[in-house]
Amino acid sequence: MTYEELIPAKGVVKEVINEAPGIKTFLIEVEDGYKEPAPGQFNEVYVPGVGEVPISVSDYLGDGVVAHTVRAAGSVTNALIDVGVGEVLGIRGPYGKGWPLSKFEGKNILVVAGGLGLAPLRPVVKKVERNRLKFGKLTILYGARTPQLLLYKYEFSHYRSIPNSEFVVTVDRPDALWDGCVGVVTTLFSKVRIDAKESVALVCGPEIMMKYTVKELIRLGFRGNQIYLSLERRMRCGVGLCGHCQLGPFFVCKEGPVFPYWVIKKYFWVDQI
Ligand SMILES: Cc1cc2nc3c(=O)[nH]c(=O)nc-3n(C[C@H](O)[C@H](O)[C@H](O)COP(=O)(O)OP(=O)(O)OC[C@H]3O[C@@H](n4cnc5c(N)ncnc54)[C@H](O)[C@@H]3O)c2cc1C
Ligand code: FES
Repeated sequence: MTYEELIPAKGVVKEVINEAPGIKTFLIEVEDGYKEPAPGQFNEVYVPGVGEVPISVSDYLGDGVVAHTVRAAGSVTNALIDVGVGEVLGIRGPYGKGWPLSKFEGKNILVVAGGLGLAPLRPVVKKVERNRLKFGKLTILYGARTPQLLLYKYEFSHYRSIPNSEFVVTVDRPDALWDGCVGVVTTLFSKVRIDAKESVALVCGPEIMMKYTVKELIRLGFRGNQIYLSLERRMRCGVGLCGHCQLGPFFVCKEGPVFPYWVIKKYFWVDQI
């Protein structure tokens, strides 16, 4: 990697979508030379004068236009969600290894997402839909803490219309208008039919949610090489140079963020829950 490759490209914000309180999706047009990201990859997003954060690609619209869904968590993300249309950000990427979708052809795809974890899985749903005949059944299980915190609500009816698919949503705490499922995302496993032998599971969400999900998947008969997780670690360089994101022998930025469960099992401590 050369020094030039680490210089962020200019990205102009074209549209901002309010998803939920403190969460927005930005459509950003990156200048020429931006490579099409694979589902599950991330960009380092630089807010001028503030800092840089890794953010998953939540969609790619072609012609260098990339979507990022951002939750205000700390200094950089709070500055980022105040950025408006026409403002300029720095974009480095796409980085990391995404979901190895070509390996999953012919299999049923089980997507399990918690909260913001739907962001890196949304490109999977779109890619499976675009290549519908290459994959088996698509099952999407999605959970959020409250109905207000569900992302991409405007796409839900579309997800439900994808042929040979099932989309089930739950919330931990319903409001007066909610008439759907209530409970953590793992409660949804009893609501769908999953043939573990013919399936792969793609999981992203808070670490505790992923641990309980892995436990449940194993109980259902999934083996470690049928479960893929997208991990989050503190990052700096994003390209395997600084060591900030180390997990055992792995750099999450470079060898991840998506890992097969059997590869990182030793560092994921599912047995302790
Ligand atoms: C591969 C990858 C993809 C990501 N994708 C997204 C995304 O699509 N949308 C999004 O909103 N965020 C995403 N994140 C998380 C995002 O990078 C962090 O929220 C951000 O770096 C926080 O920076 P900050 O300066 O705003 O907050 P800080 O001031 O640095 O921290 C605020 C709080 O968040 C905690 N924190 C910061 N970074 C992390 C982390 N990586 N894991 C757990 N806790 C953390 C801190 O301990 C602190 O409590 C992703 C992270 C990774 C590694
Ligand atoms: S963030 Fe620098 S090595 Fe991963």
